[in-house]
Amino acid sequence: MSTTNHPTHTATAAAAAPGTRSTAISATGLRKSYGDKVVLDGIDLRIPEGTIFALLGPNGAGKTTTVEILSTLITADGGEARIAGHDVKSDAGSVRTLIGVTGQFAAVDGLLTAEENLLLMADLYHLSRSEGRRRTAELLERFDLTEAARKNVATFSGGMRRKLDLAMTLVGRPRIIFLDEPTTGLDPRSRRDMWELIRDLVTEQGVTIFLTTQYLEEADHLADRIAVLDHGKLVAEGTAEELKRLIPGGHVRVRFADETHLATAAAVFGIATRDDEALALQIPSDGSVTNLRAILDALDGTGVQAESLTVHTPDLDDVFLTLTGRQNAPTVPAPSTATTTQKESTR
Ligand SMILES: Nc1ncnc2c1ncn2[C@@H]1O[C@H](COP(=O)(O)OP(=O)(O)O)[C@@H](O)[C@H]1O
Ligand SMILES: [Mg+2]
Repeated sequence: MSTTNHPTHTATAAAAAPGTRSTAISATGLRKSYGDKVVLDGIDLRIPEGTIFALLGPNGAGKTTTVEILSTLITADGGEARIAGHDVKSDAGSVRTLIGVTGQFAAVDGLLTAEENLLLMADLYHLSRSEGRRRTAELLERFDLTEAARKNVATFSGGMRRKLDLAMTLVGRPRIIFLDEPTTGLDPRSRRDMWELIRDLVTEQGVTIFLTTQYLEEADHLADRIAVLDHGKLVAEGTAEELKRLIPGGHVRVRFADETHLATAAAVFGIATRDDEALALQIPSDGSVTNLRAILDALDGTGVQAESLTVHTPDLDDVFLTLTGRQNAPTVPAPSTATTTQKESTR
């Protein structure tokens, strides 16, 4: 175990070309039903070691079910899955020694302190007392929880709980980590912290991460490859760039007071789409400040006053609308982040 965590080994693994990496997680034709409800309808996966894979889908898509099957918590009705070559059904014991799982809801004990929770995990992994203390201190430090170490977890914010939950998963030094919606419900700052921690795990230790998320932005930010799960099937798979190429690009929508203003403005934006009914212009944009400034400058140049301006960045809804022809209906509100809070900025 200790040799696999050696930094030199990690660097080699991280630098290896994707084609030469061994497979950390694979699945063929995974099926699962609850009663007559088909949850997974034939899922195929192949995730190379040392990479981040994101399973993207709305609530109820079957993300947690997939994680539960791959992490041996439940068994599939059909198909096969392997973790580092070990069959999840016939060799569940070996699989469990290789993986760590952080659930959708933080599994920390609120009545214990952060330190006690970690020491408890160290006990469960049969670390010696001194090794347990060392590992606990190291993880508290790494996750910026040292100051809060002796406080009851009940007093922790959601972000601190999630961090502690991940730290607890890491006590056993898993090579393959499942993160089920690691940032759902977190504030933007805590999400960013979590993203950084997740990225560091892969770059510094060469672990493999299988994460589920409802947010395209999160998958985009973290994952080497993304698969979109819908109604029990993977409806798309690729890099974030490949997926985004499939969906309509971002745009800025500018509304005007009357048709004359609209016409004047439309004349300066060659590639804009004109919506005469709504008195609006839809201008392709990457949503960056530079691009917005250029659009506003061009508008100023016409002397026309805009009534309102909305920035639209592609999100999971766009992916779903494009791939499935219908709107995704998340029941969890999308967290506001630096980019998404700008969506409704008016001027
Ligand atoms: N133990 C269970 N018994 C019955 N239905 C379940 C069970 N677990 C999940 N489901 C159903 O399976 C579907 C997928 O659930 P889940 O995998 O939790 O989705 P997600 O994690 O993507 O939100 C949902 O419709 C859910 O109600
Ligand atoms: Mg879930």
